This record gives sequence, structure tokens and C-alpha cells, in this order.
Amino acid sequence: MTERFSRICGVGSYLPKRIMTNEEMSALVDTSDEWIQARTGIKQRHIAADDELTSDIGVAAAQLAMERAGVSADDIDLIVVATTTPDRTFPACASAVQAKLGVDQGAAFDIQAVCSGFVFALSTVDKFLKSGEFSTALVIGAETFSRLLDWNDRSTCVLFGDGGGAAVVKAEEAASYDSSMSGIIGHHIRTDGGKSELLYVDGGPSSTQTIGHVRMDGPRVFKHAVTNISSAIEAVFEDAGVGAEDIDWFVPHQANQRILDGVAKKLGIDGSKVVSTVSQHGNTSAASIPLALDTAIQDGRIKTGQLVLIEAMGGGFTWGASLFRM
Ligand code: UT7
Repeated sequence: MTERFSRICGVGSYLPKRIMTNEEMSALVDTSDEWIQARTGIKQRHIAADDELTSDIGVAAAQLAMERAGVSADDIDLIVVATTTPDRTFPACASAVQAKLGVDQGAAFDIQAVCSGFVFALSTVDKFLKSGEFSTALVIGAETFSRLLDWNDRSTCVLFGDGGGAAVVKAEEAASYDSSMSGIIGHHIRTDGGKSELLYVDGGPSSTQTIGHVRMDGPRVFKHAVTNISSAIEAVFEDAGVGAEDIDWFVPHQANQRILDGVAKKLGIDGSKVVSTVSQHGNTSAASIPLALDTAIQDGRIKTGQLVLIEAMGGGFTWGASLFRM
């Protein structure tokens, strides 16, 4: 008898060419580089070109991840795209990604958990791979979040950006799997629908027949973020029998540098282990974790065999954490 588990084999990311600085932002709304950096840590964000779709961004990230994992379109049998900004209301963004990648087998679908989308997608894919139903998956977080912004609302438009990241996750077999081996160890995901009015989009096919704009009670979201994220991480640690000291790298959702620092401090994770890209990317929703993960793999920080913790919180509220060894 062998044991089936899943492993991240390649990561890729893509950022649209256009960079929008805080100075540009202050020409649009009553804000300043000083305020944005002090309250969020953000210096700039990338903005998709008018003809650039979420699926294009997801495909660019996926192609790099596939190249690095050494897999081709013929190998992929599951594609899960975490996004809040699909090309169309339907079909799923994952259908467009599947077609553009030239994958013509298996299944493809989207997951909507806003900023927690990548954690929810990775958790879902891990279970499909372990079950034996699929063998080689693409988990993609891709967003054109700028399209949901009210460019007159300074409390939200300064925070977000566009981009995408992807991971190839493969099913593996071993005589017995343990967490010292490269592989996905565990997840904890949560939703509290009762808090949906604190962070939402004021449109949708069934309500207004428009796409709407992001609305957020920032300070109240902030208040819940550190507590919720910390409790998800503690649950993952407990299940895995590890502690903050065992983590090599902490790759959080990049919403706000103050939230990243608050979670790391509360859990006793050393600041030197925290991967932060919020200054360069802003909050790219479901794309932020794979973008940060790829950044730290490419610059040589994250290496094979190291223990990585990811976490996110977003609209819904949704929140969660995952633990894996590269
Ligand atoms: O990824 C999904 C999850 N989202 C999050 O985790 C976001 C959580 N929330 C946050 O990160 C923070 O709450 C924000 C960055 C959104 C806001 O920071 P804050 O320290 O909570 O500021 P605030 O909303 O309490 O606003 C403080 C002041 C207000 O002015 P008064 O009432 O003190 O005069 C705002 O009107 O800052 C004002 N303000 C701004 N000033 C300049 C709000 N936005 C801006 C702005 N530029 N862009």
C-alpha cells in the first residue's frame, strides 16, 4: 500500500506592465504618498491594460509555473482559478484559461473567496489530488481588481492592484507520507457570512445587473483580520504539530503591511521570515499569495525542502491558512 499526497512542483507569476505610483494616485483623489505608505506600506501597484483580461494574466502566470514544473498542457487535468474579477459572468475564467493553454482534458472551474481565494483553491485541489480523481493541477490566483474600483473613493482605490500567480500541484505516491517530505501538509478555511456588509461589491448579475464597485469599512475589517488569520494559523499548526519556530517562510496575503506585522507578532513569527510584496504590488486579492511566493522563490529566499505558511482574509468574510513543504 502507498499513500497519496500532493506537492507544489512549480510556481509562476505575472504583473501587467503599467505601474501606477502613489503620486499618480494623489492626482486622482485627495490622498498622498505619505498617507498611503504610512497606513498600508503600499508604494505602487500594477494596472492591467484595457485589452488585458484576467484569463490572460492567469495564463501568463500558469505558463511560467508549467515550464518550471516541467509539465505540458497534456499533463494538466484540473484547473482551479481563484478570482473575483472573471472575464465574464460565465463561463468560468478557468474555462478561458483552459482553452488558452490548449488543455483539452479534465475539469476547470473558478473559486470565489475574494482575497482568500488562493488558500481556498489550494485546499480544494489538494483534496481532489489526494482522492485520486485528478493527478496534475493548476491553482491560479488572477485578478483585474482595478476594474472593480471606484476611482473617486480614496478609502479603497489606493489599496488594490492587478496581477496573477499560479502553482502546478501534482499528486505523488510514497510508502508513507510525513511532513518532513516536500508536500502539502494541511489547511484551515473559514467563512462568516454575517460580516459580508463590511467588505463587498455593490453590484452583481442578480441584484443590479452591473458589476459594481468595492465597498469596505476598512477599520472594522482591519479589527477582525489579525484575530481571524491568527486563529486559522493556530488551527493549522495544531493539526500539523508544528509551531511558529518551525516555519521557514511566512507568505501572507498582501493587504496591508500593518496586518502582516500584526499577525507575525501575535504568533511569534520572526520578521525576517515574512515575505512582503505589498509595497510593490498593493493588494491583488486572490493573486497576492502566489505573486509573493513566486517573488521569494525567484530571488532565492524560498528553497526546496523549506516549510512555508500562507494565510489570507477577505470579503465574505473568508479566511484561512495552508502549510506546505516546498
Ligand atoms: O484584502 C481584503 C481585506 N482588506 C483588508 O485587510 C483591509 C483592512 N483595512 C485596512 O487596511 C485599513 O483600515 C485601511 C488602510 C483601509 C485604512 O487605514 P486606517 O488606519 O484604518 O484609516 P481610517 O480608515 O481609519 O482613516 C483615517 C483617516 C480618515 O480621516 P479622518 O476621519 O480621521 O479625518 C479617512 O477619511 O484617513 C482618511 N483617509 C485617507 N486619507 C488620505 C482614508 N483614506 C485615505 C486616503 N488618503 N487614501
